[in-house]
Amino acid sequence: MPLPRSVEGADVEGKVVLVRSDLNVPLEDGRVADDTRIRASLPTLRLLLDRGVREIRVCSHLGRPKSDEDRARYSMAPVRERLTALVGDARVTVLDNTRFQPGETKNDPEVARALADGCDVYVNDAFGSAHRAHASTVGVAKLLPAYAGLLLLQELEHLGRLLGDVERPFVIVSGGAKVDDKIGVLENLGGRADTVLIGGKMAEDVRSENPFSFDVVLPIDVVAASSFAEDAETQVTPFDSLPDGTVGLDVGPDTRTLFAQRIAGARTVFWNGPMGVFEWPAFAEGTFAVARAVADCDGFTVVGGGDSVRAVHEAGVADRISWISTGGGASLELLEGKELPGVAAIPT
Ligand code: 3PG
Ligand code: MG
Repeated sequence: MPLPRSVEGADVEGKVVLVRSDLNVPLEDGRVADDTRIRASLPTLRLLLDRGVREIRVCSHLGRPKSDEDRARYSMAPVRERLTALVGDARVTVLDNTRFQPGETKNDPEVARALADGCDVYVNDAFGSAHRAHASTVGVAKLLPAYAGLLLLQELEHLGRLLGDVERPFVIVSGGAKVDDKIGVLENLGGRADTVLIGGKMAEDVRSENPFSFDVVLPIDVVAASSFAEDAETQVTPFDSLPDGTVGLDVGPDTRTLFAQRIAGARTVFWNGPMGVFEWPAFAEGTFAVARAVADCDGFTVVGGGDSVRAVHEAGVADRISWISTGGGASLELLEGKELPGVAAIPT
Protein backbone atom coordinates (compact mmCIF):
# COMPACT_ATOMS: atom_id res chain seq x y z
CA MET A 1 0.00 0.00 0.00
CA PRO A 2 1.71 3.25 -1.10
CA LEU A 3 1.48 5.87 1.63
CA PRO A 4 0.12 9.34 0.85
CA ARG A 5 2.71 12.13 0.89
CA SER A 6 3.54 13.47 4.32
CA VAL A 7 2.97 16.94 5.74
CA GLU A 8 6.67 16.77 6.64
CA GLY A 9 7.48 17.41 2.99
CA ALA A 10 5.08 20.35 2.57
CA ASP A 11 6.26 23.92 2.08
CA VAL A 12 4.17 25.74 4.66
CA GLU A 13 6.21 28.69 5.91
CA GLY A 14 4.07 31.84 5.95
CA LYS A 15 1.09 29.90 4.57
CA VAL A 16 -2.49 29.44 5.64
CA VAL A 17 -3.09 25.73 6.22
CA LEU A 18 -6.46 23.98 6.40
CA VAL A 19 -6.20 20.90 8.62
CA ARG A 20 -8.98 18.28 8.68
CA SER A 21 -8.75 16.44 11.99
CA ASP A 22 -11.16 13.93 13.48
CA LEU A 23 -12.31 15.78 16.59
CA ASN A 24 -15.53 13.77 16.79
CA VAL A 25 -15.20 13.10 20.52
CA PRO A 26 -17.80 11.87 23.01
CA LEU A 27 -19.59 14.67 24.85
CA GLU A 28 -21.33 14.54 28.24
CA ASP A 29 -23.45 17.45 29.46
CA GLY A 30 -21.94 19.65 26.78
CA ARG A 31 -18.36 18.86 27.80
CA VAL A 32 -15.65 16.77 26.21
CA ALA A 33 -15.89 13.36 27.91
CA ASP A 34 -12.75 11.90 26.33
CA ASP A 35 -10.12 14.03 24.60
CA THR A 36 -8.02 11.22 23.09
CA ARG A 37 -8.75 12.34 19.53
CA ILE A 38 -8.02 15.98 20.36
CA ARG A 39 -4.64 15.06 21.84
CA ALA A 40 -3.89 12.80 18.89
CA SER A 41 -4.36 15.76 16.55
CA LEU A 42 -1.68 17.87 18.28
CA PRO A 43 1.59 16.53 16.76
CA THR A 44 0.58 17.65 13.26
CA LEU A 45 -0.51 21.08 14.50
CA ARG A 46 2.75 21.51 16.44
CA LEU A 47 4.81 20.49 13.41
CA LEU A 48 3.04 23.12 11.30
CA LEU A 49 3.51 25.79 13.97
CA ASP A 50 7.21 24.93 14.27
CA ARG A 51 7.55 25.29 10.52
CA GLY A 52 6.32 28.88 10.68
CA VAL A 53 2.81 28.73 9.22
CA ARG A 54 0.88 31.98 9.24
CA GLU A 55 -2.42 30.42 10.26
CA ILE A 56 -3.98 27.01 10.85
CA ARG A 57 -7.70 26.47 10.36
CA VAL A 58 -8.71 23.18 11.93
CA CYS A 59 -11.97 21.64 10.79
CA SER A 60 -13.88 18.52 11.86
CA HIS A 61 -17.31 17.08 12.14
CA LEU A 62 -18.87 16.41 15.54
CA GLY A 63 -21.68 13.88 15.84
CA ARG A 64 -24.35 13.53 13.20
CA PRO A 65 -26.34 16.78 13.33
CA LYS A 66 -29.61 16.65 11.38
CA SER A 67 -32.03 19.26 12.72
CA ASP A 68 -31.63 22.86 13.86
CA GLU A 69 -31.77 21.80 17.52
CA ASP A 70 -28.76 19.60 16.86
CA ARG A 71 -26.72 22.72 16.12
CA ALA A 72 -26.54 23.58 19.82
CA ARG A 73 -25.96 19.99 20.84
CA TYR A 74 -23.10 19.51 18.39
CA SER A 75 -21.54 22.93 18.71
CA MET A 76 -17.76 22.83 18.30
CA ALA A 77 -17.37 25.18 21.30
CA PRO A 78 -16.24 22.59 23.91
CA VAL A 79 -13.85 20.97 21.43
CA ARG A 80 -12.51 24.38 20.36
CA GLU A 81 -11.94 25.33 23.98
CA ARG A 82 -10.03 22.11 24.76
CA LEU A 83 -7.94 22.15 21.61
CA THR A 84 -6.93 25.80 21.85
CA ALA A 85 -6.00 25.32 25.52
CA LEU A 86 -3.82 22.32 24.67
CA VAL A 87 -2.12 23.91 21.67
CA GLY A 88 -1.68 27.37 23.23
CA ASP A 89 -0.96 29.27 20.01
CA ALA A 90 -3.16 32.07 18.66
CA ARG A 91 -2.43 31.07 15.06
CA VAL A 92 -4.76 28.09 15.46
CA THR A 93 -8.52 28.49 15.02
CA VAL A 94 -11.20 25.79 15.02
CA LEU A 95 -13.94 26.17 12.40
CA ASP A 96 -17.60 25.28 12.89
CA ASN A 97 -18.80 21.67 12.74
CA THR A 98 -18.35 20.71 9.08
CA ARG A 99 -21.68 18.82 9.18
CA PHE A 100 -23.63 22.01 9.85
CA GLN A 101 -23.35 22.34 6.05
CA PRO A 102 -25.76 19.79 4.59
CA GLY A 103 -23.51 19.50 1.52
CA GLU A 104 -20.56 18.25 3.57
CA THR A 105 -21.60 14.61 3.61
CA LYS A 106 -22.56 14.77 -0.08
CA ASN A 107 -19.11 16.03 -1.00
CA ASP A 108 -20.73 19.16 -2.42
CA PRO A 109 -18.09 21.17 -4.38
CA GLU A 110 -19.51 24.45 -3.01
CA VAL A 111 -18.80 23.33 0.55
CA ALA A 112 -15.28 22.27 -0.42
CA ARG A 113 -14.69 25.62 -2.13
CA ALA A 114 -15.81 27.54 0.95
CA LEU A 115 -13.40 25.54 3.13
CA ALA A 116 -10.50 26.01 0.72
CA ASP A 117 -11.15 29.74 0.34
CA GLY A 118 -8.17 31.75 1.59
CA CYS A 119 -6.06 28.63 2.32
CA ASP A 120 -2.80 27.62 0.57
CA VAL A 121 -2.33 24.02 1.72
CA TYR A 122 -4.59 21.20 2.92
CA VAL A 123 -3.52 18.59 5.47
CA ASN A 124 -5.77 15.63 6.19
CA ASP A 125 -5.05 14.12 9.59
CA ALA A 126 -8.55 12.70 10.15
CA PHE A 127 -7.92 8.98 10.06
CA GLY A 128 -11.21 8.29 11.86
CA SER A 129 -13.09 9.93 8.97
CA ALA A 130 -10.95 8.63 6.11
CA HIS A 131 -13.67 6.15 5.10
CA ARG A 132 -16.03 9.07 4.39
CA ALA A 133 -15.96 10.73 0.95
CA HIS A 134 -17.06 14.13 2.23
CA ALA A 135 -16.28 17.72 1.18
CA SER A 136 -13.81 18.22 4.04
CA THR A 137 -12.03 14.89 3.52
CA VAL A 138 -12.08 14.43 -0.27
CA GLY A 139 -13.54 17.48 -2.05
CA VAL A 140 -11.05 19.97 -0.65
CA ALA A 141 -8.08 17.70 -1.48
CA LYS A 142 -8.82 18.35 -5.15
CA LEU A 143 -8.70 22.14 -4.68
CA LEU A 144 -5.50 22.62 -2.65
CA PRO A 145 -2.10 20.89 -2.54
CA ALA A 146 -2.96 17.99 -0.22
CA TYR A 147 -0.79 16.19 2.34
CA ALA A 148 -1.29 13.53 4.99
CA GLY A 149 -0.94 14.47 8.66
CA LEU A 150 1.24 12.56 11.12
CA LEU A 151 -1.62 10.71 12.84
CA LEU A 152 -3.12 9.58 9.54
CA LEU A 153 0.27 8.23 8.45
CA GLN A 154 0.93 6.46 11.74
CA GLU A 155 -2.46 4.76 11.61
CA LEU A 156 -1.79 3.57 8.06
CA GLU A 157 1.66 2.28 9.00
CA HIS A 158 0.59 0.42 12.15
CA LEU A 159 -2.69 -1.00 10.89
CA GLY A 160 -1.05 -1.70 7.53
CA ARG A 161 1.43 -3.98 9.28
CA LEU A 162 -1.45 -6.36 10.01
CA LEU A 163 -2.13 -6.62 6.28
CA GLY A 164 1.45 -7.50 5.41
CA ASP A 165 3.88 -10.20 6.50
CA VAL A 166 3.08 -10.48 10.19
CA GLU A 167 5.17 -12.19 12.84
CA ARG A 168 3.47 -15.42 13.86
CA PRO A 169 1.49 -16.67 15.65
CA PHE A 170 -1.01 -14.02 14.59
CA VAL A 171 -4.04 -14.01 16.89
CA ILE A 172 -7.25 -12.07 16.27
CA VAL A 173 -9.71 -11.48 19.09
CA SER A 174 -13.14 -10.33 18.03
CA GLY A 175 -16.31 -9.62 19.94
CA GLY A 176 -19.05 -7.08 20.38
CA ALA A 177 -22.65 -7.14 19.30
CA LYS A 178 -22.56 -6.21 15.65
CA VAL A 179 -21.41 -9.26 13.71
CA ASP A 180 -22.26 -7.72 10.35
CA ASP A 181 -19.77 -4.87 10.88
CA LYS A 182 -16.95 -7.33 11.43
CA ILE A 183 -17.58 -10.06 8.89
CA GLY A 184 -15.62 -8.20 6.19
CA VAL A 185 -12.60 -7.66 8.41
CA LEU A 186 -12.58 -11.22 9.64
CA GLU A 187 -12.91 -12.57 6.11
CA ASN A 188 -9.97 -10.49 4.94
CA LEU A 189 -7.74 -10.85 8.00
CA GLY A 190 -9.02 -14.00 9.67
CA GLY A 191 -7.91 -16.39 6.96
CA ARG A 192 -4.38 -15.12 7.45
CA ALA A 193 -4.46 -15.43 11.24
CA ASP A 194 -3.27 -18.53 13.07
CA THR A 195 -6.05 -18.26 15.63
CA VAL A 196 -9.32 -16.33 15.68
CA LEU A 197 -10.89 -16.06 19.15
CA ILE A 198 -14.52 -14.96 19.22
CA GLY A 199 -16.45 -13.79 22.26
CA GLY A 200 -19.37 -11.51 23.06
CA LYS A 201 -22.73 -11.62 21.38
CA MET A 202 -20.95 -12.34 18.16
CA ALA A 203 -19.95 -15.79 19.45
CA GLU A 204 -23.60 -16.76 19.83
CA ASP A 205 -24.37 -15.78 16.26
CA VAL A 206 -21.47 -17.89 15.05
CA ARG A 207 -22.23 -20.90 17.29
CA SER A 208 -24.85 -22.70 15.22
CA GLU A 209 -23.17 -22.02 11.89
CA ASN A 210 -19.67 -20.71 11.27
CA PRO A 211 -20.05 -18.13 8.45
CA PHE A 212 -16.29 -17.95 7.89
CA SER A 213 -14.02 -19.90 5.59
CA PHE A 214 -11.68 -20.74 8.49
CA ASP A 215 -12.01 -22.25 11.96
CA VAL A 216 -12.71 -20.04 14.94
CA VAL A 217 -12.27 -20.61 18.67
CA LEU A 218 -15.51 -20.04 20.57
CA PRO A 219 -16.03 -19.65 24.33
CA ILE A 220 -16.22 -22.73 26.56
CA ASP A 221 -18.35 -21.12 29.26
CA VAL A 222 -20.43 -17.99 29.73
CA VAL A 223 -21.82 -15.85 32.52
CA ALA A 224 -25.56 -16.37 32.12
CA ALA A 225 -27.83 -13.63 33.48
CA SER A 226 -31.49 -14.02 34.48
CA SER A 227 -32.29 -10.88 32.45
CA PHE A 228 -30.52 -8.12 30.54
CA ALA A 229 -29.89 -6.03 33.65
CA GLU A 230 -26.90 -4.74 35.56
CA ASP A 231 -28.02 -6.46 38.79
CA ALA A 232 -29.40 -9.66 37.25
CA GLU A 233 -28.78 -13.00 38.95
CA THR A 234 -25.88 -14.82 37.34
CA GLN A 235 -24.49 -18.32 36.95
CA VAL A 236 -21.61 -19.74 34.94
CA THR A 237 -22.80 -22.30 32.38
CA PRO A 238 -21.29 -24.16 29.44
CA PHE A 239 -21.37 -22.02 26.28
CA ASP A 240 -23.50 -24.51 24.36
CA SER A 241 -26.13 -25.04 27.06
CA LEU A 242 -27.30 -21.63 28.16
CA PRO A 243 -30.45 -22.27 30.26
CA ASP A 244 -33.76 -21.15 28.76
CA GLY A 245 -34.72 -17.63 29.76
CA THR A 246 -31.15 -16.51 30.46
CA VAL A 247 -28.80 -14.35 28.40
CA GLY A 248 -25.03 -14.70 28.16
CA LEU A 249 -23.49 -11.35 29.13
CA ASP A 250 -19.80 -12.26 29.50
CA VAL A 251 -17.41 -15.09 28.75
CA GLY A 252 -16.77 -17.40 31.70
CA PRO A 253 -13.58 -18.05 33.71
CA ASP A 254 -12.40 -21.07 31.67
CA THR A 255 -12.75 -19.07 28.47
CA ARG A 256 -10.79 -16.17 29.97
CA THR A 257 -7.93 -18.55 30.77
CA LEU A 258 -8.04 -20.17 27.34
CA PHE A 259 -8.11 -16.84 25.47
CA ALA A 260 -5.34 -15.39 27.68
CA GLN A 261 -3.13 -18.44 26.95
CA ARG A 262 -3.59 -18.07 23.21
CA ILE A 263 -2.88 -14.34 23.36
CA ALA A 264 0.21 -14.88 25.54
CA GLY A 265 1.78 -17.07 22.87
CA ALA A 266 1.14 -14.61 20.02
CA ARG A 267 3.69 -12.43 18.21
CA THR A 268 0.97 -10.30 16.59
CA VAL A 269 -2.47 -9.51 18.04
CA PHE A 270 -5.44 -7.55 16.72
CA TRP A 271 -8.35 -7.03 19.10
CA ASN A 272 -11.69 -5.49 18.21
CA GLY A 273 -14.90 -5.80 20.23
CA PRO A 274 -15.66 -6.57 23.91
CA MET A 275 -16.36 -10.05 25.32
CA GLY A 276 -19.53 -8.94 27.09
CA VAL A 277 -21.45 -6.04 28.57
CA PHE A 278 -18.34 -4.64 30.25
CA GLU A 279 -20.05 -1.36 31.17
CA TRP A 280 -21.66 -3.38 34.00
CA PRO A 281 -19.10 -4.58 36.58
CA ALA A 282 -20.69 -8.03 36.92
CA PHE A 283 -20.02 -8.67 33.22
CA ALA A 284 -16.71 -6.85 32.74
CA GLU A 285 -14.20 -9.50 33.74
CA GLY A 286 -13.97 -11.30 30.39
CA THR A 287 -13.26 -8.08 28.50
CA PHE A 288 -10.74 -6.89 31.10
CA ALA A 289 -9.02 -10.30 31.05
CA VAL A 290 -8.55 -9.92 27.29
CA ALA A 291 -7.32 -6.33 27.75
CA ARG A 292 -4.71 -7.48 30.30
CA ALA A 293 -3.66 -10.44 28.17
CA VAL A 294 -3.14 -8.21 25.12
CA ALA A 295 -1.12 -5.78 27.25
CA ASP A 296 1.01 -8.61 28.70
CA CYS A 297 1.79 -10.02 25.25
CA ASP A 298 5.34 -9.19 24.10
CA GLY A 299 4.40 -9.12 20.42
CA PHE A 300 3.00 -6.33 18.24
CA THR A 301 -0.49 -5.57 19.58
CA VAL A 302 -3.20 -3.43 18.01
CA VAL A 303 -6.56 -2.47 19.50
CA GLY A 304 -9.26 -0.78 17.40
CA GLY A 305 -12.90 0.19 17.85
CA GLY A 306 -14.46 2.47 20.44
CA ASP A 307 -15.50 -0.17 22.99
CA SER A 308 -12.25 -2.12 23.09
CA VAL A 309 -10.27 1.11 23.25
CA ARG A 310 -12.38 2.23 26.18
CA ALA A 311 -11.82 -1.15 27.85
CA VAL A 312 -8.01 -0.95 27.64
CA HIS A 313 -8.19 2.50 29.22
CA GLU A 314 -10.54 1.32 31.97
CA ALA A 315 -8.34 -1.71 32.63
CA GLY A 316 -5.42 0.71 33.03
CA VAL A 317 -3.26 -1.03 30.41
CA ALA A 318 -3.40 1.40 27.47
CA ASP A 319 0.29 2.31 27.74
CA ARG A 320 1.27 -1.33 27.17
CA ILE A 321 -0.50 -1.73 23.82
CA SER A 322 1.64 -1.19 20.72
CA TRP A 323 -0.99 0.79 18.82
CA ILE A 324 -4.45 2.00 19.82
CA SER A 325 -6.32 3.19 16.76
CA THR A 326 -8.34 6.42 16.79
CA GLY A 327 -10.51 5.01 14.02
CA GLY A 328 -13.64 2.91 14.39
CA GLY A 329 -15.25 2.34 11.01
CA ALA A 330 -12.12 3.61 9.25
CA SER A 331 -9.85 1.01 10.85
CA LEU A 332 -12.33 -1.76 10.07
CA GLU A 333 -12.63 -0.72 6.42
CA LEU A 334 -8.87 -0.47 6.07
CA LEU A 335 -8.44 -3.96 7.50
CA GLU A 336 -11.21 -5.21 5.23
CA GLY A 337 -8.85 -4.29 2.42
CA LYS A 338 -11.00 -1.40 1.20
CA GLU A 339 -9.58 1.81 -0.19
CA LEU A 340 -10.19 4.78 2.12
CA PRO A 341 -11.41 7.73 0.02
CA GLY A 342 -9.79 10.31 2.31
CA VAL A 343 -6.42 8.61 1.82
CA ALA A 344 -6.85 8.01 -1.89
CA ALA A 345 -7.50 11.75 -2.44
CA ILE A 346 -3.96 12.63 -1.31
CA PRO A 347 -1.13 12.23 -3.84
CA THR A 348 1.49 9.60 -2.95
C1 3PG B 1 -16.27 7.99 13.99
O1 3PG B 1 -16.30 8.39 15.16
O2 3PG B 1 -16.54 6.83 13.66
C2 3PG B 1 -15.81 8.97 12.95
O3 3PG B 1 -15.57 10.22 13.50
C3 3PG B 1 -16.78 9.02 11.80
O4 3PG B 1 -18.03 9.45 12.24
P1 3PG B 1 -19.30 9.02 11.38
O5 3PG B 1 -19.46 7.53 11.56
O6 3PG B 1 -20.45 9.82 11.93
O7 3PG B 1 -19.00 9.37 9.95
MG1 MG C 1 -18.56 5.64 13.05
